[in-house]
Amino acid sequence: LFDSGIGGATVLREVRRRLPAEHLLYLADQARCPYGPRSPDELRAIAAACARWLIDHRAKLVVVACNTASAAALSDLRARFPATPFVGMVPPVKPAAARTRSRVVGVLATPATLAGNLLHDVVARWADGVQVVSQPCPGLVEQIEAGALDTPATDDLLRRYLAPILNAGADTIVLGCTHYPFLTPRIRALAGDHVTL
Ligand code: DGL
Repeated sequence: LFDSGIGGATVLREVRRRLPAEHLLYLADQARCPYGPRSPDELRAIAAACARWLIDHRAKLVVVACNTASAAALSDLRARFPATPFVGMVPPVKPAAARTRSRVVGVLATPATLAGNLLHDVVARWADGVQVVSQPCPGLVEQIEAGALDTPATDDLLRRYLAPILNAGADTIVLGCTHYPFLTPRIRALAGDHVTL
């Protein structure tokens, strides 16, 4: 698995739970964190370098444990390394659209994830009749990497990013970045009990 940093650890945890017999190799690409503000070309080059490293270390399958890299590079990776299966991330709009009662869903993600086609395709396919409010969240990944999970600065960012979603009437919020589950307690506290993450 790879990610721009510790975010993919939230994916690693689930993979370990479901596939306890596998040997897992995790690349936290903190040298190039954050990925979110980077261009698609840059992200494709970075993702290819990470995949190359994992394959050179005998990975038989690569999980792109990052929504940003998946949005920009998943199809490119599959074309570049045809012998290796790739599993990518996409913000979980499908379950959110199925469970919302207010018919408004918010998506928190990085700028590059929101710019990519992957999310677009999922919204078009699974969120028919649901208003999807997409909110780019620059700066959140940096706070999480710094371990600033429960600080006034992180709360300020979260308040700013949650406001348009809550004002639109969302009752369901999608964490569209593998780093964001680390902020679940703060997002719950600031969004209120009526909102499902
Ligand atoms: N964990 C990455 C994601 O899921 C964070 C990207 C970043 O480094 O900005 O999008």
